[in-house]
Amino acid sequence: MRDELRELADLFYVKIMEPSSGININWIRREFMRLGIRDENVDNLYIINAPVSREVWYYIFVKLHENKKLHLFLNSLLDKLGGVELGILKNRLDALGMYYDGIFREKTFNIAVLVSGRGTNLQAIIDAVENGDIRGKIVAVISNKKDAYALERARKHGIEAFYVPPKKGESRENYDRRIAEIIDPLNVNLIVLAGYLRILSPWFVERYKGKIINIHPSLLPAFAGLYGERVHREVIEYGCKVTGCTVHFVDEEVDHGPIILQKCVEVRDDDTPETLAARVLEKEHECLVEAIRLISEGAIEISGRRVIRKG
Ligand code: GRF
Repeated sequence: MRDELRELADLFYVKIMEPSSGININWIRREFMRLGIRDENVDNLYIINAPVSREVWYYIFVKLHENKKLHLFLNSLLDKLGGVELGILKNRLDALGMYYDGIFREKTFNIAVLVSGRGTNLQAIIDAVENGDIRGKIVAVISNKKDAYALERARKHGIEAFYVPPKKGESRENYDRRIAEIIDPLNVNLIVLAGYLRILSPWFVERYKGKIINIHPSLLPAFAGLYGERVHREVIEYGCKVTGCTVHFVDEEVDHGPIILQKCVEVRDDDTPETLAARVLEKEHECLVEAIRLISEGAIEISGRRVIRKG
């Protein structure tokens, strides 16, 4: 490979032989249009011809912003080339967020969200996934409450919503095993507790260790174990000047696992539990989306009680 090609090795490229393939810049542009890849998402696109052992190979360099839809483009190339002559750097696929099993597929980060109530935190996650801030997919929303508005929100966005009714006298573990039956076939990478008002069994926590996160509306470890308006009422009555929210990994103790992110909110003299809750809730949405983004990008790791940025 020529030197200038080596320098570009961090770009994605494919190797084709012209003219038999019929692939040229115009064809690529047409494909981009057909696939809905807009110009602003194409950081780099050009074809170079490079003589390699007396043959002339053509390299297409394509760099799509955030690699969105790159797998679709690769599949077009596969079709066009009839599956041959595609000299893609297969070892780059992982870094490009893809895998290959006959066709190119985007690796997805699958999220399950457990809810009990109105689901504004769920909505923040849905929005972030839809606008691309979180590169992942919500594969299930599960609730222990039939009338949880969160289920409705999920359905409105075409997300599978499950109501799992607790049975009378059923143990926590048994209930959680029924949740696991839903989650397990879905290849879930992360379980988010977003206003989920059930304590998880040790069995469940152990099974998905390091894969469950929770949002709590106070600066933990202060005001742990409380929920709803009670948290904010106690914050005000205690005389705190700041409060906030915490996203943390879940361990066997309630509101206790390693802290991923926290955000502060000032407590004002005229605050009521309702006004304070509303301002904390805004921060919860930011915090939860940011935490999921970091986890989905593999940007953090757990070290004892601490969660630290990688690299
Ligand atoms: C949030 O305050 C969350 O911190 C707590 O329950 C509430 C859920 O709100 N665990 P929503 O259902 O996401 O609107």
